[in-house]
Amino acid sequence: MYRSHHCGQLRALNINEEVTLSGWVQKSRDKGFVIWVDLRDRYGITQLIFDAERTPEVIVNMAKSLGREFVIQVTGTVIERTSKNPNLETGDIEVLVSKLTVLNEAKVPPFTIEDQTDGGEELRMKYRYLDIRRNPVKNNLIFRHKVTQEVRSYLSSQEFIEVETPYLIKSTPEGARDFVVPSRMNEGQFYALPQSPQTFKQLLMVGGMDKYFQIVKCFRDEDLRADRQPEFTQIDCEMAFVNQEDILNIFEGLTRHLIKSIQGKDISSFPRMTYDDALQTYGNDKPDIRFGMKFGELNAVSQHKDFGVFNSAELVVGIAVPGGNSFTRKEIDSIINWLKRPQVGALGMIYSRCNDDGTYKSSVDKFYDQEDLAQWAQVTGAQAGDLVCVLSGPTDKVRTQLSALRMELAERLGLRNPKEFAPLWVTDFPLLEWDEDSKRFHAMHHPFTAPKPDQIKLLDSDPGAVKANAYDLVLNGNEIGGGSIRIHDKATQALMFNHLGFTPEEAKEQFGFLMNAFEYGAPPHGGLAFGLDRLVAILGGQETIRDFIAFPKNNSGRDVMIDAPSAIDAAQLNELHLKVDLK
Ligand code: AMO
Repeated sequence: MYRSHHCGQLRALNINEEVTLSGWVQKSRDKGFVIWVDLRDRYGITQLIFDAERTPEVIVNMAKSLGREFVIQVTGTVIERTSKNPNLETGDIEVLVSKLTVLNEAKVPPFTIEDQTDGGEELRMKYRYLDIRRNPVKNNLIFRHKVTQEVRSYLSSQEFIEVETPYLIKSTPEGARDFVVPSRMNEGQFYALPQSPQTFKQLLMVGGMDKYFQIVKCFRDEDLRADRQPEFTQIDCEMAFVNQEDILNIFEGLTRHLIKSIQGKDISSFPRMTYDDALQTYGNDKPDIRFGMKFGELNAVSQHKDFGVFNSAELVVGIAVPGGNSFTRKEIDSIINWLKRPQVGALGMIYSRCNDDGTYKSSVDKFYDQEDLAQWAQVTGAQAGDLVCVLSGPTDKVRTQLSALRMELAERLGLRNPKEFAPLWVTDFPLLEWDEDSKRFHAMHHPFTAPKPDQIKLLDSDPGAVKANAYDLVLNGNEIGGGSIRIHDKATQALMFNHLGFTPEEAKEQFGFLMNAFEYGAPPHGGLAFGLDRLVAILGGQETIRDFIAFPKNNSGRDVMIDAPSAIDAAQLNELHLKVDLK
């Protein structure tokens, strides 16, 4: 028996019991005749005491040579501590050691295994197994486990069945590049790793599974960000005989259940907003609605004077920053410089201070009088004490810039409270989106999304205007899920492929299996997939998903611990029929 208790378990109740513990040496303090060692395992820390008067000398000597992270086993008696530690659950007791076994020695770790570590990010990723010993990472993984458990239990209670779908598949176009796997047995042919199980879950609906879910790895070869990993996990769901309303209701239920069971918070409502309204009101399709600062379009009240910058702009739009009139000139300059960084790319910012006495002071007083500025305040909803920030330019660009400014200022003003949860459905996404590079339309969600039935007729005349029964679930300004009602008949699917630029032969070659299935009684169906990593991070009050993944990749898509990707040897290449020019 390696242990009778774990290191977070012993309390005053256990005093006088003989116990055996195993774990890692967190730290030791050698006071000459007494040595204290903090013993750590997943569950906590227990203080061990080696005492020249009460512990055999040979054990005391062994204790003196214990290094950080040695793995040891001790047997001893639980005693009351003379100086208790209220910050530790086991802080009332210590274990007076009578027997010590070193189970394994350890090299000095490259960074401290403490909540606040001295290790940089890359170093910690290289030694991720050590990082996982630290509370912040360990707790995140335990937290992820709890969320996953709740998801499984909730969906199972709603009669969803978890079905596994294959990882070695044929490419599914979902907007990103595929990771491909060469086939040894089929020369010159490749599998693709799934960007999502999209077509399989639809085939499960044709197969009559009715309600499917899967907690599943997905693979996308795309540029990485804080909320993106090349392999990530979805809670992938699909249902038959449902309309959009049914789906939104079911997954509102799941989200509500998770926020309640994990964070103890009740969510009273799941507001809905169309994609067009989200862009107009917040400048992006995943607005954070924990705070206001809604966009006010100012064209009508700013293009009647001699200010050329505004007069020539497609859109003049502003936000009211609460309490922003207290910003100093220097602070405003820093905001303007932030906006001018290449990442945001604004040319400048016009502002108007809303003074407490009801007057205004703007950076364009030469052009606009008090009456004009009062209108700006009214349109943006500014109160006395606020600052109206105004940008102008081409509509899409200026909305993106103002949205970035809105998020940045909310962050600076502490308005993005991680303990508050504000979900939002964004609905009525466009079916298609114009791609400047390839000069053709792409599916905005994926090619299996159904256009709104009354809009199919627009596909020929105005494809960009066609809306889909597609929706995203946004939580605190992050897209945590997305889905749609699917096409379930061959004719509409063929029409869609045609609009996406596939010839009938190409469509058959790539998606013949799905089109065939649609000829054998495909039920109306739809679904959605949550990004589990994002959902877990946000429920945990954070936005970087890497911290909630056991073995994440770095920003260049590398696993720095196992050093992947890596070259493979010539024999393996040969076997796979691959010729690589190894320079
Ligand atoms: P979508 O592409 O919107 O939909 O993906 C669903 C959710 O997955 C998460 N996500 C990611 N998380 C981390 N890293 C990534 N690289 C990444 N990419 C996406 C997001 C997103 O909302 N098959 C459809 C779903 C459907 O229609 O049912 C799909 O995959 O949170």
